[in-house]
Amino acid sequence: MTIHAIIGCGRVAPNHVDGFRALPGWDVAWACDRDPGRAAGFAAEFGLGRATAAVEEVLADPAVTSVSVAVDHAQHHVLTEQALLAGKHVLVEKPLALSRQDGERLVKLAEQRGLVLSVVSQHRYDPLVVSVARWLREGRLGTLLFAQVSLEASRPADYYADSYWRGTWAGEGGSALVNQGYHCLDVTRFLLGELEVKAAIAGRRRLADVIETEDTLSALLLAGPTPVTLNVTVASDTLWRTRLELTGSEGAVCFDLDHPSTLHRATEGVASAEHAEEQTADQTGPAPGIDYYGISHRRQIANFAAAVETGAPLVADARTALGMIELLEQIYGAAESART
Ligand SMILES: NC(=O)c1ccc[n+]([C@@H]2O[C@H](COP(=O)([O-])OP(=O)(O)OC[C@H]3O[C@@H](n4cnc5c(N)ncnc54)[C@H](O)[C@@H]3O)[C@@H](O)[C@H]2O)c1
Repeated sequence: MTIHAIIGCGRVAPNHVDGFRALPGWDVAWACDRDPGRAAGFAAEFGLGRATAAVEEVLADPAVTSVSVAVDHAQHHVLTEQALLAGKHVLVEKPLALSRQDGERLVKLAEQRGLVLSVVSQHRYDPLVVSVARWLREGRLGTLLFAQVSLEASRPADYYADSYWRGTWAGEGGSALVNQGYHCLDVTRFLLGELEVKAAIAGRRRLADVIETEDTLSALLLAGPTPVTLNVTVASDTLWRTRLELTGSEGAVCFDLDHPSTLHRATEGVASAEHAEEQTADQTGPAPGIDYYGISHRRQIANFAAAVETGAPLVADARTALGMIELLEQIYGAAESART
């Protein structure tokens, strides 16, 4: 049995337990949270054998092969480094780190030690996203003319007030973009390649009294010659909707990351019959946790486990995540002089 441990027993942690428990030959043995009551409660709820508030105790356990790091953004690099130095493979929640230097150090450390380091980018594994990537490769949209990417989410004042890290530059490193908007930006990069930042603007449109970070951000990006507009907000009254619309000279597609089985729009000749078959063949049952986290933590965790066991290539490798940190830094940098 290969043993995994969870560090950080908050909102997203159930998706990690579920993903590793779904794998033959794997189990999750430890719940670690610096709040001992939370660690114990989580271990009891999910039937994990051991609970602790001390990361060192988990990392000292020779039975532990790998860990999930699912804490606030500011500590990702600290705990990931500790785990790599202890010889553990690491699946860390996004973002890899809050600065390029910290991210680079982690990537190099994992490479030097031959350890798997993956950063959660679960939507890259959504069957619909995989299909759209193939259609783009096959040129079914013709010349891509523009892409429109948006996230509308609702995050009430309590969501920030009840958290020790959200809504702060030190703890979260931004808000609407680096946290909720991360996924649609990551999928855009996955589909269209590297993005150049032309302009950005950010502000606090509704949560000015609550957070110090942005609740709304817009950016104009370029994927090669193709303009990409990005709009993200956590100040809307819609709980969650992430939409990508790609318009080409020979076709268009529109889909939402939060409805991973639905293609809202595909002009004739773009979507293929195999797409419907993939969707049907790929029903893994409802994921645990909050539904808009999507259906693909399990898929990414299976890819991570295969990388640990057989050296299989990762779809979401750490170098990809390092590129996301650079892009986020550039967008925030461009927005700094243009707050609304
Ligand atoms: N991929 C997704 O869809 C998705 C969804 C939600 C959250 N996330 C990411 O997951 C991470 C965690 O988010 P969350 O919503 O679960 O946060 P949360 O605030 O609900 O939970 C974080 C937990 O980490 C614990 N913690 C903090 N420092 C610790 C330490 N040094 N050692 C052990 N435990 C510690 C806290 O006590 C808390 O219980 C963030 O990076 C977030 O962006 C990803």
